[in-house]
Amino acid sequence: MLKKPLIMGIETSCDETAASIIQDDNSGIPKILSNVVSSQFDVHKDFGGVVPDLAARSHAEKIDLIVEEALIKSKKEIKEIDAFAATAGPGLIVCLTVGLNFAKAVSLSLNKPFIGVNHLEGHALSPKLHTNLHYPYLLFLISGGHTQFLIVNSLGNYTRIGTTIDDAIGEAYDKTAKLLGIEFPGGPKVETLAKKGDPNKFKLPLPIINKGGCNLSFAGLKTAVLKIVKNIRTDQDKFDLAASFQNTIEKIVIKKTQLAFDEYLKLNNKKRDFVVAGGVAANKGLRKKIEELSYKNKFNIIFPTLDLCGDNAAMIGMVGLEKYKIGEFSKHDFKVNPRWQLDENAKFLKGAGVIL
Ligand SMILES: Nc1ncnc2c1ncn2[C@@H]1O[C@H](COP(=O)(O)OP(=O)(O)OP(=O)(O)O)[C@@H](O)[C@H]1O
Ligand SMILES: [Mg+2]
Repeated sequence: MLKKPLIMGIETSCDETAASIIQDDNSGIPKILSNVVSSQFDVHKDFGGVVPDLAARSHAEKIDLIVEEALIKSKKEIKEIDAFAATAGPGLIVCLTVGLNFAKAVSLSLNKPFIGVNHLEGHALSPKLHTNLHYPYLLFLISGGHTQFLIVNSLGNYTRIGTTIDDAIGEAYDKTAKLLGIEFPGGPKVETLAKKGDPNKFKLPLPIINKGGCNLSFAGLKTAVLKIVKNIRTDQDKFDLAASFQNTIEKIVIKKTQLAFDEYLKLNNKKRDFVVAGGVAANKGLRKKIEELSYKNKFNIIFPTLDLCGDNAAMIGMVGLEKYKIGEFSKHDFKVNPRWQLDENAKFLKGAGVIL
């Protein structure tokens, strides 16, 4: 019997050092043999955000240990690995360089293929680690740095039909958390506080809700939250503001997702699979609303499991595995690309003066 390909994924695009070993399987769903994620929460918490140089130093200090731990947990030896896949972008250039160079060096020394992976493609394919999912499908990518509706036509082939024109949705959660006095990264905590509050207490704006098609905007929310925060007195006010923020995000997401469904079908796509991936896909309130809307529109909704929503290396291995199977390897002079987009033909739609 032929040995099933074993892929090592490595992820260092931002503030998580991660390594994973996955193995192809007859079921069509690869097995995750190990998935080690080391977060740099303590490194950055006093700064209220990720400090690139500190993040890169921490990756450099830990990458070999994390890879070793992933190998031990997988019960495999490094010489058994068939290909080394690492995130090449988008992300922080100094951080990406650590993981990418590590993967290049190991693959060179063992004479095994090296595969440069787009981090966002990792998010896009993450549910394939537990679900039999086939191309094409509609994707809502909701993470710390991106918010986009994309048609996943096939591996490496994406059509963007909507994007945020300013902040990413995760960024909106993190900024709101900071204004509420929650330690970085506070996105998940906003959801917890929201459960104790009145979602209709504060009226927050719904930026570009009635224009711009499935494009989205969140920057106005932060300004509105800032104004309210100055006048709140009690913990209950805080809970009410978190709940009102969560409620507003849900309204924006539902309206824009409906438009994305319509657009996807208009473009002659028949298969109604809808993947929602990225860190914010862990938000239970959003999951519930998106589930309800998908059901109403007869879309089959697929979320990654919670451990695969945030950054991890199994999803990088997943992309690596698909590329390995079609012999799509990268050369060793493959460069990091801090702004690598999934649909490289999509119009740049960010900043002041954007015309929708
Ligand atoms: N339950 C939750 N509710 C809201 N936001 C959440 C929740 N859990 C995580 N997040 C947010 O998800 C984001 C992290 O997601 P992820 O790791 O995918 O982003 P990233 O890798 O930093 O960005 P990108 O993938 O765009 O490069 C953070 O902004 C975090 O606050
Ligand atoms: Mg990410």
